[in-house]
Amino acid sequence: MRVMEWEIKMSKLCNLRCTYCYEFEELDDRRRISLDGWRAILESARWYQHELERQNPDEEITTRFVWHGGEPSMLPLSYFEQVLALEREVLGAENINTVYHNHIPTNLYAVPPRLQEFWEREQFVIAVSYDVYDGARVNTAGQQTGAKVGENIRRRLAAGRRMGCNTVLNAYNVEHLLDIYEHLKDLNDNNPGSLYWTIIPLHKTSTDDGNAEFSLTTKPIVDVLGQLFERWLDDPQGLLIQPLQEHYLSLMRQLTRSEKYYFSRRAYGESSLMVNTDGHVYVFNGEYEMSESLGCIFDQPLSELRQGERYRASLERQDALEARFCHGCPHDGYCNRAPVVSAYRNGAQGRCAIAYPLQQRMLEILARRGMTAETLQAPVLPVIPQLKYLTAAA
Ligand SMILES: C[S@@+](CC[C@H](N)C(=O)[O-])C[C@H]1O[C@@H](n2cnc3c(N)ncnc32)[C@H](O)[C@@H]1O
Ligand code: SF4
Repeated sequence: MRVMEWEIKMSKLCNLRCTYCYEFEELDDRRRISLDGWRAILESARWYQHELERQNPDEEITTRFVWHGGEPSMLPLSYFEQVLALEREVLGAENINTVYHNHIPTNLYAVPPRLQEFWEREQFVIAVSYDVYDGARVNTAGQQTGAKVGENIRRRLAAGRRMGCNTVLNAYNVEHLLDIYEHLKDLNDNNPGSLYWTIIPLHKTSTDDGNAEFSLTTKPIVDVLGQLFERWLDDPQGLLIQPLQEHYLSLMRQLTRSEKYYFSRRAYGESSLMVNTDGHVYVFNGEYEMSESLGCIFDQPLSELRQGERYRASLERQDALEARFCHGCPHDGYCNRAPVVSAYRNGAQGRCAIAYPLQQRMLEILARRGMTAETLQAPVLPVIPQLKYLTAAA
């Protein structure tokens, strides 16, 4: 099972002013991707889906469009309707929600009910940003937004919806991560709907000089994620948590000496691309440096961009990054190399700033619980916590 993700920055306009937001300078910008722009993106996405199917005939392959911002709900319902009609025209109505899926991250602060109903009807997968502890996520008047967003999440769960919850780990909430886990579990367990959780360690932004109130160094991130991993392993009804589940799976593959597999872009191709509002394409999570763009998808389809000099340069940058951080790493071949894009956080030396020490910490925790390369090869296996999440992802 392979997913190709297109993160599409439809517009940067936003009703909040989260102080850590990496789009901070553009949150007033009303420009949006035009329908012609969408057509160009959809045609390239269709081409790449077919290309991946041709190259991997035995694998199930799907494409995911992440309607990103800014705040997507600032755009009118008519815009969503027009783009969905275009998806049906370009990609084939029968392929929507089978081959091609729509995802939407939102602040869920003031999303019009009619838009929420549309997302439901069209089966958009929704992920809500919720840091639980106030501090960074404020509206344009500087007021905190957590209580209102929490209530909106509870309402959706009460109505039986399933949704993601994205929490940015920053100085305001890092000490409370275990309480946040309990709070989200409480919401999940006491409502008909359900939640899965993604923790996003704060990444570099123009508003972060290292001394901002939300700034966070790497060590507390690794420490608290290690503590959460222990809590999670003890929890018979644990929530699905990323990136812990992904690291746990790679570590289990490492401990059971599974076959190594390298997710190098040269051989594997792309797994995610980001399209900025102006059409410039970036390798997902790459810096927004224009010099690192693969080119403009409004002017040239992906099939041509992949033949270009900029694409070749992006592969060379990736090679250099992997040579520096992945080669010789004990987790290489199990880890999917995705963490390497943020390896340099806080000027890391040697290995990936967060993923490497976190995986080392998780290995120690597993060993203390009797899960080692030896015990996992023995005829009688130790108890493996959260097994359902490992088998679901394997
Ligand atoms: C840019 S927002 C766009 C979608 C929507 N406005 C929202 O807040 O969910 C996408 C995600 O990036 C996260 N984010 C913003 N700035 C960040 C930063 N500096 N580090 C890590 N994540 C960040 C947000 O919390 C959100 O989960
Ligand atoms: S709601 Fe999203 S886009 Fe808006 S400021 Fe906050 S993180 Fe940025």
